[in-house]
Amino acid sequence: MTKNDQVLHLLKQADGKSVSGEEMSRKIGVSRAAVWKEIQTLRSLGYEIQAQPHLGYQLTRIPDKLFADEIADSLGTKFIGKPIFSYEDLDSTNDTVFKLGEEGLAEGAAVFTEHQKKGRGRLGRSWISPKGKAILFSYLLRPTLAPSQVSRVTLVTGVSIARACRQLTGKPVGIKWPNDIYYQNKKVGGILTEMSAESDRINFVVVGVGINANSVAADLPANSLSLRDITGQDVARVSFSKMLLREIEVDYLRLKKGLFDEIAQEWESYSVTTGQRVAATLLDRRIEGQATGIDSEGALWIRKDNGLQERILSGDVQHLRAAG
Ligand code: BTN
Repeated sequence: MTKNDQVLHLLKQADGKSVSGEEMSRKIGVSRAAVWKEIQTLRSLGYEIQAQPHLGYQLTRIPDKLFADEIADSLGTKFIGKPIFSYEDLDSTNDTVFKLGEEGLAEGAAVFTEHQKKGRGRLGRSWISPKGKAILFSYLLRPTLAPSQVSRVTLVTGVSIARACRQLTGKPVGIKWPNDIYYQNKKVGGILTEMSAESDRINFVVVGVGINANSVAADLPANSLSLRDITGQDVARVSFSKMLLREIEVDYLRLKKGLFDEIAQEWESYSVTTGQRVAATLLDRRIEGQATGIDSEGALWIRKDNGLQERILSGDVQHLRAAG
């Protein structure tokens, strides 16, 4: 632990009471002036610390910033979010985790950031979110799946995110195939799954999650919504990030146990695509028809007007009537 971490730890341990500078300097083994310097650093990060004459320092507010230590505190997962790294600014959390994957980091490692300069979405789109208002993170998985099965990971993650959003908002947040988190026909979040693979095996998978947490309409592209819009109040991002990581672990363990079919059923229950009239834009053509559900690979089936079924494994789907 750095000196800064130690000071913060002692302030938190005091549970709202004051801790004297003298006690902290003794416990950490540094001068009182050094303790004061660390207090100043913590204040600059957004921690509110009152200096009480004769009593010492009292932690009165923890900022809702996506600091690794705050998210890791009482997280309680076995491997997802172990460890967590956090950065004020990055190009893309997916790129950072991809590098960690190449360096051999363990499954579950996660990277959070307050802002991305080159945030990416599916199909080469950019993902733009205002600094400090979204939840942006990526994590590393090393699943024993064939490369052709990787879309299972996206679907499983969609289930975890939708369930967490439902728990938080109490509203029927849904999933638009394959990976958009939707509410009332507007996008609340998205998932970008990328992998490093050989022809027959996956080396690792990077799952990137972007959620509009506290953004307001002016911050967001048209047809988007934030969790704050749904609940009418600010979302505690650190606490919700923990919830997301816990749900992600629950479902990834289900996938590892071979329970994809069970997860696919849950996916169907959240799906705002199934039953809809949709248009799928593929590389070379457009298909229109009724979405009838997903199969064991996570592919979407569409029944065309001539009665024939088409199977779509990737691509873009547009709902032709209001969804969610
Ligand atoms: C989509 O809806 O097309 C997927 C959006 C995924 C955005 C997240 S934000 C964190 C991670 N880093 C990125 O560059 N993209 C994903």
